[in-house]
Amino acid sequence: MMASIGVGIVGTGRISDLHVLEYIANPATEIRGLCDRNVDLARQKALAWGLQDVKLITDDMDAIFSDSEIDLVEILLPHDIHLRAALGAMEAGKIISLQKPMCSTLEEADALVEAVDGYDRPFKVFENFIFYPPVIKARELIEQGAIGKPISIRIKSHAGYSETEWEVPKSAQDWRQRVERSGGGPLVFDDGHHKFALAWSFMGNPEAVHSFIRETTREDGFVFDAPAMVSFLFPGNRVGNLEIVYSPELLINTVYYAQDDRVEISGEKGIIWINGGHGKLGDSPPVILYEGGRFTEYSNIPTGWEQSFILSTRDFINKVCNGGDPVLTTRGAREILRFASAAEQSNREGKTIYL
Ligand SMILES: NC(=O)c1ccc[n+]([C@@H]2O[C@H](COP(=O)([O-])OP(=O)(O)OC[C@H]3O[C@@H](n4cnc5c(N)ncnc54)[C@H](O)[C@@H]3O)[C@@H](O)[C@H]2O)c1
Repeated sequence: MMASIGVGIVGTGRISDLHVLEYIANPATEIRGLCDRNVDLARQKALAWGLQDVKLITDDMDAIFSDSEIDLVEILLPHDIHLRAALGAMEAGKIISLQKPMCSTLEEADALVEAVDGYDRPFKVFENFIFYPPVIKARELIEQGAIGKPISIRIKSHAGYSETEWEVPKSAQDWRQRVERSGGGPLVFDDGHHKFALAWSFMGNPEAVHSFIRETTREDGFVFDAPAMVSFLFPGNRVGNLEIVYSPELLINTVYYAQDDRVEISGEKGIIWINGGHGKLGDSPPVILYEGGRFTEYSNIPTGWEQSFILSTRDFINKVCNGGDPVLTTRGAREILRFASAAEQSNREGKTIYL
C-alpha cells in the first residue's frame, strides 16, 4: 500500500536525524524529498537513513515546495530563514511542521501568525520536550490530582561535557553565535524555548519574567549565555524559574547534546521530579512523586530523548490524518517566543518585564 502523505525535509542538519525516525517508520508517511543548501550533506543523510532511492534531493527549497508528490514539509533551518521557508511552503499549499522557535523575532512571528490565520492546511510549530515520556507521565499524575494544584515549577538545565555525545558540526554552532541569525543566546533563547514550553505546558502563560544572564566561554571559543537565572510569575500567585549552568567538568551521560534538564513541580499537596532530558546524571528514576509522606518512583518509562521527537511527529501525523490542532499552533508558539524574548529583554534592561 502506498503511503498517503509524501514528506519533504528542508534542512538535513544535526537535528534532522531525529525528525526522520517516525516519518520512516509510520506507514502513513513516505519521505520523498530532501533539501539542504549543502546538497552533499543531504545525499549523505539519504544513505545513512536508507533513503538512497528518495525521489528528490536538492539544494533549492522551492523545488521541494513545488513538487506535487510532497504533501508535508518539515522545516529544520536556522531561525532567520524560518519565516521565508514557512511562507514559501504556504504559498505552495503544503502541510507544515516548522521547528521552534517559529521565527527569530516577535515581529516576524506576528507576520506568520497573521498569514497562518487564513491558512486551511495543518500548521504545527515543532516542540518535542512536552512529548518526552517522563514529562507525559508527570502531566498524567498532575491531571489525576497527585500533587493538587501546581504552584511552582523549577527547571534546571545543565550543560557539561560528555565522552559519548553526538558530533555537532561547526556550521551548526556558528549561526547560533550570531544573534541576527539565531534571535538570542544558545541556552536561554534557543534551547530555552523548550524549557519555556515546558513551563507553559504545566503552568500556562506567565504574566511577568525577570532574568540575570551572564556568559561563559567554552574551551573551543563557543560562548554560552550561562550562568543564567530566569524567574516567572504566573497568574494566581504561582511562580517558576529556569536556572542554566555550564559546568565544564561535569560528566553527562548522553548520545545527544552534553546537557541535561531536571524539573521539579510543587503542588498544594505533593511534589513531582522529572530527573532527566537530553542526558542522564546517574540512574535516578525518571519520575518521582512525593505525596502523603512517601515517595513513589516511576521507573518503567522510556527515557531516550529521541522518543520525544518520535511522539511529537506521531501526534502530528495522527492529527493530519484524523483532524485536530497540533499541540503547538503558531499562536501558542508566539506566546512561547514572547516568554523567551522577555527573558532576553529583562537581562538587557535590568528590570522585570510584564507581559
Ligand atoms: N527540538 C530540539 O530539541 C532541537 C534541537 C536542535 C535544533 N533544533 C532546531 O532545529 C533547527 C535546525 O537546527 P540544527 O541544529 O539542525 O542546525 P544545523 O545547522 O545543523 O542544520 C540546519 C541546516 O540547514 C541548512 N540550510 C541553511 N540555509 C539553508 C537554505 N537556505 N536552504 C536549504 N538549507 C539550508 C544548513 O546547510 C544545515 O545543514 C533550528 O530551528 C533549531 O532551533 C531543535
